[in-house]
Amino acid sequence: MKAIIPAAGHGTRFLPVTRVVPKEMLPIGAKPAIQLIVEEALSAGADGVVIVISPEKEIVRRYFEEDPSLAPRISWAYQTEQKGLGHAVLQAADAVKDEHEPVLVLLGDALVAGEAPSAKMAAISRAFGGVSVVGLEEVPLERVSRYGIVKGDNGVNGLKGLEGVDCERILRLEDLVEKPAPEAAPSRLAIAGRYLLDPAIFSLLASQTPGVGGEIQLTDAIRRLLADRPVYGYRYPGVRHDIGNPAGYLKAMQAFQPSFVA
Ligand code: UTP
Repeated sequence: MKAIIPAAGHGTRFLPVTRVVPKEMLPIGAKPAIQLIVEEALSAGADGVVIVISPEKEIVRRYFEEDPSLAPRISWAYQTEQKGLGHAVLQAADAVKDEHEPVLVLLGDALVAGEAPSAKMAAISRAFGGVSVVGLEEVPLERVSRYGIVKGDNGVNGLKGLEGVDCERILRLEDLVEKPAPEAAPSRLAIAGRYLLDPAIFSLLASQTPGVGGEIQLTDAIRRLLADRPVYGYRYPGVRHDIGNPAGYLKAMQAFQPSFVA
């Protein structure tokens, strides 16, 4: 399995520090946040990680290249214009083009405290014969309009080889609505931070027209993937922290390093 970590965004919600320090490099304890994400990918079974950065974020590359234990497993892709998450993932396509199995995508600014979702998502994918699986989080109704919200059948039973995964947390997606109004939301389950995607996603991204904000949205391409191939969701039990803003960053620090902030 290969993993992609998009980390080329501008980080405007964390200005002014992000003028010179990428948000992904902010420390959680003594490690930059993105290292925890690389470690999640490797412990889920990824044998190669592609990190997507912009030319302004070379410091991320320098950091990993100085660590011989991590450097051989990391390769680099560049996004020179910030045209959205889907566009960032597409920049890694060449690096994973020979893949036949789903590719793990982990957002560079999303840390999940507690149980890491990626390993469980990989197990679910294998149990269903190599399907796509997206990580889901339940969000309050007033916040559904910020996310891709899924519609699906809850609970999948009787699967072999899925020890340690609560089947009640798995659902098969029927539809996906991008940023719905609360009254139009099919559920409160949002796609959040972790994706394991069939390699067909790359050709869909290549033909994806800009969506919300004029950006190439990953969820728009997943919606098209869903029309053609099964996509499952895993309502992961861990707590996601968005380190792309100061309050989320502090909560992540508290969750990962409680003794520092007691
Ligand atoms: P965000 O939605 O947090 O966007 O991206 P952003 O641009 O980084 O931050 P703000 O909104 O300006 O504060 C989620 C993840 O996707 C990456 C980001 O680096 C982050 O890890 N991303 C986003 C890209 O790599 N390229 C993009 O064009 C957009």
